Amino acid sequence: MACSKEKECQILEDMKEYYGKTIQNKDELMINNSTSTCDAPPCKLPRHIAGALELIHPDVKAKSYGCGMTVPELLEGTHVLDLGSGAGHDCFALAKLVGETGHVTGVDMTEEQLEFARRYIDYHQETFGYSKPNTDFVMAYIEKLGDAGLKDDTFDVIISNCVVNLSPDKRAVLKEAHRVLKPGGEMYFSDMYADQVVPDHIKQHKVLWGEGFAGALWWEDLVRITREVGFSTPRLVKASKINIKKSIQDLTGNVKYVAATYRLFKVPQNGNNMPVDVVYNGSVTGHDKVIALDKHNTFKVGSVVEVDPELSAIIQQSRFASAFTVVPSKTSDGEKTIPMNPFSGTRAA
Ligand SMILES: C[S@@+](CC[C@H](N)C(=O)[O-])C[C@H]1O[C@@H](n2cnc3c(N)ncnc32)[C@H](O)[C@@H]1O
Repeated sequence: MACSKEKECQILEDMKEYYGKTIQNKDELMINNSTSTCDAPPCKLPRHIAGALELIHPDVKAKSYGCGMTVPELLEGTHVLDLGSGAGHDCFALAKLVGETGHVTGVDMTEEQLEFARRYIDYHQETFGYSKPNTDFVMAYIEKLGDAGLKDDTFDVIISNCVVNLSPDKRAVLKEAHRVLKPGGEMYFSDMYADQVVPDHIKQHKVLWGEGFAGALWWEDLVRITREVGFSTPRLVKASKINIKKSIQDLTGNVKYVAATYRLFKVPQNGNNMPVDVVYNGSVTGHDKVIALDKHNTFKVGSVVEVDPELSAIIQQSRFASAFTVVPSKTSDGEKTIPMNPFSGTRAA
């Protein structure tokens, strides 16, 4: 078991019941999770991603319970881990994008979800035209990946879609994610966040735990915990307000929620403090003219862009290194702040 305290164990057991037995498809969820493949209209996905999503079996699509899109760039040949893979929707989409030389491992604690996902491995292998399956599904608690044999420095990319909020121990989840990522690796994940620490009366409610409202982190706590376990400062990719049904709103009161996607990198936190100039070369699939690494940092091919020291470390030490040229900044006007608040400027989903 991934828990030591009785209350945490009870939350995990209730969650297994909820996702194993209570909820059978996404229409039964109480939140409007129409944000699962597109954060807000108009939705323009790169063609290779839209193509991969189209190939997912309809039964798997119907059981996709995510709250955001978890498809980072530059996945070819990578080894990906999905925390809380559910019915396997995101795993199969990424299995197409990593290609035959890549691999996707989904972990989940709910046997029913794992069994369901495993039934569709061969279907997707055949649909993608691969000679052997490149996906597997492993029973694991995301707080204790070591118990399932997941070793240090193993994965290039971790994704997770609306799962971290369900864990009673977020610090353990993020610490484990940091441990199993290779140096320079990335955790790219969508989740629900609150605009304040969620009050205790909400945390007592079983269904609110199942739907993510009780366990959602105050976004500032995410920033604190990720830094404490060794990740780079969270980079906000996108955020949209969650539409809450009236019956839920009566319970959550004045707490506001967003669905947000952040990316965290496993790069050393204290490096060179000087901003640098970078130039994007257009080599990332689906981004031959422009690429956005987060909501506030977009790079046009051939243009010189000044980035903060941490983003420069991320670019130089991650899988993005070959897509950028980096030179010391000639124009620097001093320190840059990193905008992380998912509530500033969010649109309704
Ligand atoms: C909201 S669903 C999301 C599933 C999938 N990521 C998707 O987008 O469809 C949450 C999933 O996380 C799993 N889960 C929740 N807490 C977990 C934990 N502590 N360890 C492992 N799996 C967990 C549940 O079993 C369920 O399959």
